[in-house]
Amino acid sequence: MAELVRPAAETLAAGGKRVRPLLVFCCAPQQAVESRSVLSAATAVELVHMATLVHDDLIDGATMRRGRPTVAAAQGPETAIRAGDFLFARAFTELTRTGSATAVQALAGAALDLSMGEMDQNGAAFDLNLREETYLDRCRRKTASLFSCACRLGALVGGASDAEAARLAAFGQSAGMAFQIFDDILDLAGAPEVTGKQRGADLADGTVTLPVILALRTEPRLRVALRRAARGERIEELCDHLAAHPGLAAARERALSFVEDARRALDGPLGGADEAALRLIADSLVDRYS
Ligand code: IPE
Ligand code: IPE
Ligand code: MG
Ligand code: MG
Repeated sequence: MAELVRPAAETLAAGGKRVRPLLVFCCAPQQAVESRSVLSAATAVELVHMATLVHDDLIDGATMRRGRPTVAAAQGPETAIRAGDFLFARAFTELTRTGSATAVQALAGAALDLSMGEMDQNGAAFDLNLREETYLDRCRRKTASLFSCACRLGALVGGASDAEAARLAAFGQSAGMAFQIFDDILDLAGAPEVTGKQRGADLADGTVTLPVILALRTEPRLRVALRRAARGERIEELCDHLAAHPGLAAARERALSFVEDARRALDGPLGGADEAALRLIADSLVDRYS
């Protein structure tokens, strides 16, 4: 048992931004924010997120996470698979404390979306002709679905109406899109000291992201450097080039337009959610440091 618990506990202790549980709390009707059910929902969402990170790092061949060696890099693939499975199981154990089958169904749906998004990504590895719509669809499954679920769970478990929960879920959906696009920007332009992750991991494992898709439109010759980076060569140099590229600035604009969508989703009754905090979170999704 200790072999399962230790890597999971270390991932938890390493921190992270905890943005998904924050969304659960902010979307809950504020009179319910300290209830056991809302706390269980927030915990479950973060545990599912952590499970997917441990598995994602194994799939992506990533060496650093939250400023520390990944479970896969430090303890091998088998430990990473088991630790991720353990975290998934603990997440759903925690969620059952809400007594809500709808909540369990929502989180299971998000976890399924996430694994399909990861599968899409693997299937499209090294595809330099990847279309923007296909990329956005992947982000929807891989990241936005869990953000949306976090918001929905906070609202529902806290006692908001279905319409209010749907409004907050739409907020989470757009917020998640902005978050993933900016994560992909940080992969190229973020210093490891602040992101806690190695730079250029997406280039190294052939994951084609929006800044790259947009940069390729004006500089098709980039294909040569991208293929070289996928062989592990001159990755830093390519990161520097892409970080200063107009394609990356254009990707940032796309992320900002999702932030606008997220803000617009908040127009209407929110069942007592902390609207000011949600607007603040929306504004901090792009140009964050990690
Ligand atoms: C990383 O999520 C995975 C993505 C969806 C981009 P976070 O950036 O929220 O990771 P932590 O929890 O802060 O470490
Ligand atoms: C998000 O994609 C991964 C999950 C949703 C689990 P990334 O692969 O870009 O996330 P990071 O960059 O490793 O955190
Ligand atoms: Mg990854
Ligand atoms: Mg990334």
